[in-house]
Amino acid sequence: MEIIRSVKEMKAWSKRTRDAGQTIGFVPTMGFLHAGHMSLVRESLRVSAVTVVSIFVNARQFGPDEDLDTYPADIVGDKKQLASLGTGVLFYPANGEIYPQGHKTYVRVNEISDRLCGASRPVFLEGVATVVLKLLNIVQPHTAFFGEKDRQQLGVVQAMVRDLNLDVSIKGMPIVRDPDGLALSSRNQYLSEAERKSALALSKALRRAQAMVLTGEVSVVAIKAEIGAIIEREKNARIDYIALCDPGDFAEKLEVQGKTLVALAVHIGATRLIDNCILGSD
Ligand code: PAJ
Repeated sequence: MEIIRSVKEMKAWSKRTRDAGQTIGFVPTMGFLHAGHMSLVRESLRVSAVTVVSIFVNARQFGPDEDLDTYPADIVGDKKQLASLGTGVLFYPANGEIYPQGHKTYVRVNEISDRLCGASRPVFLEGVATVVLKLLNIVQPHTAFFGEKDRQQLGVVQAMVRDLNLDVSIKGMPIVRDPDGLALSSRNQYLSEAERKSALALSKALRRAQAMVLTGEVSVVAIKAEIGAIIEREKNARIDYIALCDPGDFAEKLEVQGKTLVALAVHIGATRLIDNCILGSD
């Protein structure tokens, strides 16, 4: 696996690879890789001639009181995992490569960025759109892969690619979970044993919402009340939001009609976790 640390070299590599007629698949990450990340890498390897994975902890998507300083890292373990799968290039930008002195530009996808996670984390989705556009311009992939675990992030990237006429196809991939239902996340490692048990309330509440819809419930108020009750049974849980919304623009719905996204953000102790699933069908 080739490791590239400068923007200039990464761009030169991509130009050579495209000129040689090879397709480039790209998986952007913030490292501390787990099976969720690796599912994206596997899919990229399956459909692309060469795969680039980036590891960059993007300070601009963290709020002032968030976990930037303690965000987990294991670059040695990450490199091993990526190399063993057959990843072609790790783009691991050195300090100052992505945001050199004087960087002034931000990218903002309006409306979507104010909803759900955007309401409680005002800089998050703008930071994501900005860094993803930069990474797409640097890596020049044919296809880029994002997890549905971060469904709103995926929605922002899709809207940006459409609105700014980018020549890349965005592929969303299903959420990878532990056998007990907990969605994999780099942040799960902050959880104590007791908190990890409480965290199962998120996936349990989503399964309950799915069951309610299957038996004919359409009331968003009723489904939210049930989800809230399941989560509030855990004494170390604090709900940030429960949203039933359109999976395209994330506008909240009053009834489950057609495809509806149910998305949750819950603090378990000091750790903020998110999860989601689709209810109903077209
Ligand atoms: P990170 O949290 O490292 O996630 C990188 C990619 O892995 C994202 O597309 C995310 O949705 C996906 N992913 C994480 N957990 C997953 C799971 N359990 N199942 C499936 N996919 C999963 O998301 C980011 O980094 C950053 O915001 C980034 C896009 C790199 C921009 O900085």
